[in-house]
Order: sequence, then structure tokens, then C-alpha cells
Amino acid sequence: MPTFQSDALVFFGATGDLAYKQIFPSIQGLIRDEGLSIPIIGVAKSGWSLDQLRARAKDSLEKHGGIDQNAFKKLTELLRYVDGDYADATTFTNIRKELGSAKQPTHYLAIPPILFGTVAKGLARSGCGDNARVVVEKPFGHDLASARELNRTLHQYFPEDRIFRIDHYLGKEPVQNILYTRFANPIFEPIWNRNYVRSIQITMAEKFGVQDRGRFYDETGALRDVVQNHMLQVLSNLAMDPPTGEDHEAVRDEKAGLLKAIHSLTPDCVVRGQYNGYRSVPGVAADSTVETFIAVKLFIDTWRWADVPIFIRAGKELPVTATEIVVEFKRPPRETFGELVPGTSARMRLRVSPDISIALGVRVKVPGERMVGSDVELMLQRQAAADEPPYQRLLGDAMRGIGELFARQDSVEAQWRIVEPILGNVTPVYTYQPGTWGPDEAQQLIGTYGPWVDPQVLREK
Ligand code: BG6
Repeated sequence: MPTFQSDALVFFGATGDLAYKQIFPSIQGLIRDEGLSIPIIGVAKSGWSLDQLRARAKDSLEKHGGIDQNAFKKLTELLRYVDGDYADATTFTNIRKELGSAKQPTHYLAIPPILFGTVAKGLARSGCGDNARVVVEKPFGHDLASARELNRTLHQYFPEDRIFRIDHYLGKEPVQNILYTRFANPIFEPIWNRNYVRSIQITMAEKFGVQDRGRFYDETGALRDVVQNHMLQVLSNLAMDPPTGEDHEAVRDEKAGLLKAIHSLTPDCVVRGQYNGYRSVPGVAADSTVETFIAVKLFIDTWRWADVPIFIRAGKELPVTATEIVVEFKRPPRETFGELVPGTSARMRLRVSPDISIALGVRVKVPGERMVGSDVELMLQRQAAADEPPYQRLLGDAMRGIGELFARQDSVEAQWRIVEPILGNVTPVYTYQPGTWGPDEAQQLIGTYGPWVDPQVLREK
């Protein structure tokens, strides 16, 4: 594995939620598993001391993944803290001091996008940005125009190969495994197209509501929160062409090509829902029409996928927490045995979470005189959730300068272009009861390609 070329890690938003839930556990993991040993500088405007940040790190690890005594000790030694306003030049002078002799820092902007420009400018003016990499959190923009604007701002200070746009779904083991399974086996590629595939479904279900993120969520909604990014990135792994050549951009080129071929969504291909009770969540407007559930039907305009409907649904307060893809294959041209066969008989199922599995659904004969069958699944792989959290993998990659698992600007723009026509209130929002699969209208959307395949979760997280 290449060494970390970065010789310091600076993370903005050190006292925030993302640092608490993801960044501290990832840093501890990098120290434990990969011997990370560089200054780690937290930055925030909270009036905190270094000891407070250390206490926060301890608390974060206790709640998220557990403390590894040796790695935590090391983390405590490496940790520094700079308190200050991001608009104040002194903050960056203090960061520069803490960087000491570091010449190639990585700056992780775990802060609202509205602050990206201010921080990027502060880094550049203070010299902290020289030879540096910058990691930015999703959401990258609010729509196509703002994503382009944000990109222009970052490019004033950092070249493209030093910008790492996080979509943590790309760091997930099972999402990587989609590519691996497709391109490491010769049997899938010949059938992975419109000749054999009848439809594709992707479900991202969460059993919980918006919790304490009411304010953020009410400005975002399910489409912007998970479909524009996570779901379309998963789809690009599932549907892209095989990468060719040795170029390290080969995979991202193919993914961008796929995303550019997806038709922009139209209102008749969308169903939005809101769970009953959402409007009483603190931070949510009493008359909010923001969707907590969305189902879309889309098409990819390529020789491989033309006319194959792709259904994506994502929502909060659904019956289970699970993300799963179902690729439905066409039936034989005639049913030789005259059976009425369920639509789900011939399919490939790829479970992304909570557990990881890849299974092939086939029909086998029930023993006996009659030529009748039942559906079984050949389990190609089944494992518990992956060990390495996505943020650990992605942070490590950014510090090594490996960009493959980050969203490239042309992909981000294609993703915004796809969802742009259905942003906001262009379609009605239907109420659904918590613990159900969203509004009934979602079944109408899938129509004769349905029903939706509900992930069967045996053990909850
Ligand atoms: C985040 C969204 O990007 O992804 C959340 O903002 C969502 O709303 C989360 O819950 C899901 O991530 P995971 O890894 O738990 O599936």
C-alpha cells in the first residue's frame, strides 16, 4: 500500500457531529491498522481547549466502535486544537504554526458547504494550502448551478487532482464488491444488458426518522440527501461499462460516462412521501413539504441499457434498515412448463447493508412427478458488515492521494442534472405511516415491474 504522503491532517468542524460519529473513529482506525503518525489538528469555533477536544474524542470512540488503548494514546499525543473563526486570518496563522514542518497537509472540510470558500481562501492566503489536499463533505452544492459555483471557488485555490469530494457510499466494501463481482467473473458481463435484464430496483430503507437533524433535513430532503449522491453512485457501479486501459482515471471515466447517459428525471417518474410526525421534529417547518421518502423511475440512454426501467426508492421511517439492489432478468421466451412464475424468480440480489450478500435467484424443480418448481437463491457471498468503516478507507486514500473512490466534478454535475427537474415541490408529497413502505403511489410507479422487493432483514443493526 502506498505510504501516506500527507504529513499532517487538519480537520475543520472538529467539535461537530461528523467528527464525533465518523472522523475520530476513522483516525483511531488509521493509527491502529496503518500506523498513521502525523500531527492531527482539529479546528472549530467553539471556545474549546485541547483537553476538551481530547475528551470529546474519547467519548466519540466509546460510542462509535470502542477505544483501542494503544491507538487512542497515540491519537491523544498527535491531537492539536485551533479555536477560531474561519473568516479570521489569525485562525489560519495558528494552524500554520501547528503544522510546524509539515509540507503536504490534508485539510478535511467537515463543515457546511457555505463555508468551503472562506476556508479555502484562508488556507491559500496563509500558506497552509501549499501542496495541500482538500477533502470536502457532501452535499456538494444544492443544485447544478451551486455545485458549479462551489467548484469554481475551490478551483481558485486547489487544482482538481487535490480536491477529494466525499460520498461515503463509495468507500463501502459491498459497493466496491459490485465492481469486483461484475468484472472479475466472465459469466455476468454477457447478460448484463437490455437483452437479459428486465428491470433494476434499488432500495435504501432506514427504520429511523430524521432524529436530531431536523433543520438540516428540512433544507435537504431525501432526493438531495441520498439519491443525488449515494444512490446514483451505486447505480453507476452497477451499470457502468468495464474500465479499459491503465489510466488511473479509467474507472471514474466509465462511471462519469454512465451518469451522463442517464435521462433527466421528469415529474411523472417520481413519487414523494413524508412520514406522519415529521413536521413535529424540532427544526422542521410546521407546513413542510420536504420529502422523507422518494421513489423514482429512470432510464439510461445507452446501447446496453436503453428501455430497461431502473427504480430507486429511499426513505426514513420504513420497516427495516437495509440497502439492496435487485437485478431482475427476463423470463425465457416461453414458459415450457406452463407455470405462473413470480417476477422475482430470475434475479441477482446485492445487499449493501446491514449485512453483505450477493445471491442469484433461480428456479429449481420440486421433487415429484409434476414439472413444477420453486425459487431458490444461490448464495455467492454472505458476510457480516465490513470491518473497515468507509470513512477510514476514504480518509486514508485522500492522504495517499488516491482519488478513485471520490466523486469527480463531471459526475457530480451529471448527478445534479439528472435530479434538477424534480427538485422542490414539482410533485405532490403524500403522507405515509412510520413503519410502512411509503405511500401507495410508489407501487403504482413500479406498475407491472413490481412489486417492489422488500429487503428481508433477519437481524437488525
Ligand atoms: C448520509 C445521509 O449521507 O447517509 C443520512 O445524510 C443517511 O441521512 C446516511 O442516514 C446513510 O448512511 P449509511 O452508511 O448509514 O447507510
